Amino acid sequence: MNTPAKPAILVARRVFPETLARLREHFDVESNDTDGVWSQDELVQRLQGKVGALTTGSERIGPELLAACPVLKVVANIAVGYNNFDVPALTAQGVLATNTPDVLTETTADFGFALVLATARRVAESEHYLRAGLWKQWALDMFAGAEVHATTLGILGMGRIGQGVARRGAHGFGMKVIYHNRSRLDAATEAACGATYVSKAELLAQADHLVLVVPYSAASHHAIGAAELAQMKPTATLVNIARGGIVDDAALAQALKNRQIAAAGLDVFEGEPSVHPELLTVPNVVLTPHIASATLKTRRAMAELAADNVIAFLTQGRALTPINPEVLGAAAA
Ligand code: DGY
Repeated sequence: MNTPAKPAILVARRVFPETLARLREHFDVESNDTDGVWSQDELVQRLQGKVGALTTGSERIGPELLAACPVLKVVANIAVGYNNFDVPALTAQGVLATNTPDVLTETTADFGFALVLATARRVAESEHYLRAGLWKQWALDMFAGAEVHATTLGILGMGRIGQGVARRGAHGFGMKVIYHNRSRLDAATEAACGATYVSKAELLAQADHLVLVVPYSAASHHAIGAAELAQMKPTATLVNIARGGIVDDAALAQALKNRQIAAAGLDVFEGEPSVHPELLTVPNVVLTPHIASATLKTRRAMAELAADNVIAFLTQGRALTPINPEVLGAAAA
């Protein structure tokens, strides 16, 4: 007797061998075993005949790709952010989209705080100085940075990760925490985070350290540009662990050059992995290559959750973390 063919899926980026092995128990898997990103044409070509795909923020899933891949049923992003997905187009075509919330919250909030500390206390700048052999003597004001404890922490975007950053600031560093978000948190969550809701203008004017954790969308594009930077304290630091494009990188480089704000810590960039050339020339910025969720434990959990979503959907018609759950209802109907 012939064994029925397994459904075919695509894994668009290199993932952990154990994740691939689990997927292979259920599916005929084609996978990208390199860290190179496939062009859109190559992605479309490799998706032919595939009912599912694991993607990252580098693979754009929009109407054109969907029209060219009619048998696709599920795309699972190995990321909590999903601005690479055109969700209305996915939903219109009845394709389930999933992401990886929760499993990365605390790890990413840790990194947000690492950047606050590194930026305020000039960790990278002073390390470069030391490595360059420039440290000849100690001085009282050498690399004197900004205080972190007992200052005002501002958070733009108060989802799960923003709340994690807030808890660290309020409870670990005795900071006054203020936040701005599309919608205000309920009183119990505000109390647990030790956070107070303010307007965006108040946030910009009052924060000593401003952390951006807002999802990227047309509405948040350049949410921090020249006008917003001009409203911040000249002693303030800015940290972006959300997405490139939320900050106008050219305007930020200018503000850092002019010391309009003291310093910035950036994990994400407009057009990454390219980085605005001016940012590479200013000393008062800490730059990291989109690693806020990068611990092995968390990255494994993200890959596993994406795999779980594809397995659950294609074998049982359900999903753990759907972005467009209405597709589940329609599939069951
Ligand atoms: C996320 O999960 O969205 C991270 O930014 C990794 O892409």
